[in-house]
Amino acid sequence: MKATEFGESFIWGAAISAAQTESAAMADGKGVSIWDEFCLAQKGLFSSKFRIKNKHHLNYSSDFYVHFKTDIDLLKSMGFKHFRFSIAWSRILPDGETINPQGIAFYQSVIQYCIDVEIEPWVTLYHWDLPAVLEKKGGWTNRAILDWFALYATICVTNFTKVKQWMVLNEPSVFVGAGYFFGIHAPGKTGFNNFFKAMHHANLCIGHIFRLIKSINPELKVGSTFSFTHVESIDDQNRNVNAAFLADLLINRLFFEPIIGLGYPKEEIKILKQIEKYILPEDALNLKTPLDFIGIQTYTREVFKWNPLNPVLRIKQVPAKLRTTELTAMDWEIYPPSIYHVLKKIDAYQTGIPLIITENGMALNDKLVEGEIKDDKRIAYFKAHLEQVKKAINEGVDLKGYFAWSLIDNFEWAEGYHPRFGLVHIDFASKQRTLKQSGHWFKLFLR
Ligand code: GAL
Repeated sequence: MKATEFGESFIWGAAISAAQTESAAMADGKGVSIWDEFCLAQKGLFSSKFRIKNKHHLNYSSDFYVHFKTDIDLLKSMGFKHFRFSIAWSRILPDGETINPQGIAFYQSVIQYCIDVEIEPWVTLYHWDLPAVLEKKGGWTNRAILDWFALYATICVTNFTKVKQWMVLNEPSVFVGAGYFFGIHAPGKTGFNNFFKAMHHANLCIGHIFRLIKSINPELKVGSTFSFTHVESIDDQNRNVNAAFLADLLINRLFFEPIIGLGYPKEEIKILKQIEKYILPEDALNLKTPLDFIGIQTYTREVFKWNPLNPVLRIKQVPAKLRTTELTAMDWEIYPPSIYHVLKKIDAYQTGIPLIITENGMALNDKLVEGEIKDDKRIAYFKAHLEQVKKAINEGVDLKGYFAWSLIDNFEWAEGYHPRFGLVHIDFASKQRTLKQSGHWFKLFLR
């Protein structure tokens, strides 16, 4: 297979995010983010264990802050023409209100360098690193987040005028689910109340910021990215099929259907009725957003079954480890048809909005041996997934592009540095960059 089979105008890119790659957590006036704090947090009042595996801290990641030109050169050397990265809100507004000129200057340099070497910048406004001062006021559980975000977005869009492709949020279901329900991501909050408030505000934020950016410049393209996972039932027994139905609703539909005008699937799970108290009369209209593109981020399949012991939902995930040996370093199942199923499912909504895969890739525990990283498994992953993507396109799915996750190895949130997702290997001690075999594979593929 060759990239040319996807058509001349197909967008090929690679992605990173600020918190995961920049390091420089306190450099040049940057404020503290919820992830800076979470990296120092212990699991509980009486626990000596840290929230992040091996006590890893994002300040020692890939130093993109210093090496961004090298990284963009590497992206270009593989033949990619598009680069997706995010802006650290706490670099722009360290205290949530006052502009930090050095933060603006940094992203201006990154964007200008992209333009100089003919790489199109695709910028995500929010990839999970809220300024800590805003979390102290409730973060995503406070409806005022819509105003805080509007200020931040206005500053970004008016200062970074060379960016034509914007994404509002990265995977709201993940930062809300992991950060405000399970408490395993920053800010570590739990429970249904936090979850519902944060969910509704995140969903509202997409439309609010979309309209704001369009009012500043209607020419700009504004999308947002969503995590989608192909969900299956362990077998065809009714109660397990129902469990998978609920899981799909919570993982995929809850954070997507309101945006395309279908509202919350409240009738289908009783507990969702609780959202009503956070919804204002005008919200229904504001949730619906005619995005310019839908960013799809998908990695694996998840399998569910009925579980009478789960008090509210009665569902249980069947870990991939118990089902297969085809695993990534995240213990996620390698199941290429999942990307095809996800594309077909979103296509079936018939939104008329073009789709772009804004993340897909796999983690390995890559080792540098005699100057090389032989990541054959990753090459096989990309090949197999791209074949499934092609199959969906052949069947009529309106997919405009594909971004590999990730350009460089980085800080994988609560997992720390061990799962490596990059096409480029980073030696986290010396910060040396080495193109992996998968990077060489992309070079041939994109030629
Ligand atoms: C996504 C996230 C990325 C990256 C990736 C791999 O959910 O947007 O930041 O961590 O997963 O786990």
